[in-house]
Amino acid sequence: MLSQAVGIVLGVHACFLPFLWCFKSAPFCPSTSTTVSTFIKICNDFVASQRISPDRVKVVDLGSGSGTVLFAAAKQGFCSVGYERNPWLVAWTRAKIKTQGLSSLVRIYRQSLFSADLSDVNIVYFFAVPSMLSDLVSIFIILSCFIDIL
Ligand SMILES: C[S@@+](CC[C@H](N)C(=O)[O-])C[C@H]1O[C@@H](n2cnc3c(N)ncnc32)[C@H](O)[C@@H]1O
Repeated sequence: MLSQAVGIVLGVHACFLPFLWCFKSAPFCPSTSTTVSTFIKICNDFVASQRISPDRVKVVDLGSGSGTVLFAAAKQGFCSVGYERNPWLVAWTRAKIKTQGLSSLVRIYRQSLFSADLSDVNIVYFFAVPSMLSDLVSIFIILSCFIDIL
C-alpha cells in the first residue's frame, strides 16, 4: 500500500515537473509571431542605422523559453544568446540548435536571467511578468549608457 502511494506520488511529480518549473516565476508562454516579426524589424532597423552586418550584432533573450525569438533572429543572421532556467526548455532549444545546424549563431545558457552577461550585448528581448522587470531595471540603468532601451 505504502509503495503504491509512493509510486503514485513519484509518477504525478514526474508528469508535472516540466510544468511546475514554468510556474516558479514567469510561466512559459511563447511570443506570438506578430511580436517576433516586430522584434526582428527592430533588429533590422538597428543594423541599418548602424551600417553593420547582422552577425556583428548580439541579441539576447532573457528567459528564452523554447527559443522562438533566438531562432527567428538567427535566421536573419544575428548572433542570438538565450538565458533560460527551465531545463526542459533548455534541452528542447539545444536539440533544435543541432537539428537546424545553427550552433554558430545560437547559444543557450541554463542559468538565471538575472546573472546574464549583458556586457557586449546590442539588443535585449524580455517577455515575462512585470514584477521581474523591476528587478531588471537596476541592471538596465547601469547599462543604459552603453545600450538603447526601446
Ligand atoms: C513568457 S516566457 C517567454 C519565452 C520566450 N522569450 C518567448 O518570447 O517566446 C518567459 C520565460 O522566462 C523563463 N524564466 C522565468 N524566470 C527566469 C529566470 N529567473 N531566469 C531564466 N529564465 C527565466 C521561463 O521559464 C519562461 O520560459
